[in-house]
Amino acid sequence: MKKIIIGFFVVVVLMQFWPVDRSNPESDAALEIEAPAEIKAILEKSCYDCHSNKTTWPWYSYVAPVSWLVAYDVEEAREHINFSEWGTYNKKQQNHAKEEICDEVFEGEMPLPKYLKLHSEAALSEEQKQVIKAWALQEDVEADTAQVEQE
Ligand code: HEC
Repeated sequence: MKKIIIGFFVVVVLMQFWPVDRSNPESDAALEIEAPAEIKAILEKSCYDCHSNKTTWPWYSYVAPVSWLVAYDVEEAREHINFSEWGTYNKKQQNHAKEEICDEVFEGEMPLPKYLKLHSEAALSEEQKQVIKAWALQEDVEADTAQVEQE
């Protein structure tokens, strides 16, 4: 029994040496999402830890194996939507992203529920959701007319 416990601790200690990518890549400030201050504030407070290059890495992101999960989530999140690189998406992609943002927020899928357990301040009120929705829909229409004008 003692050997098993010691073995367990050795494994946990060794886990800490496995490298974890907690980098916040440099990105051009011009690519940052442009949105009304109210929207920007919501995104920064509730989404930026995962969906931007400005992640605030919490203490538990330094403790394996939790650190592996956190780093994985951030990597996945940035691949889907990275608000620090929003300018690299074309209009169509941006509109699609906005639709998804609206869906995810209303379905309660985002911010990730497990994240909210430790970051209750990131939870969205019904009012904040409505603000997001209005923003997402409004921009869609603007982009559609822009496309028609181009044709
Ligand atoms: C704790 C990290 C985390 C936070 C905070 C977070 N997300 Fe995500 N998000 C993810 C991960 C991981 C994925 C990709 C995997 C998935 O779909 O669950 C994702 C995917 C998404 C997607 C794409 C879904 C799809 O199916 O393609 C949208 C849209 C999204 N997030 C919006 C948001 C918005 C808006 C916020 C803030 C209100 C937010 N997320 C906050 C981690 C996060």
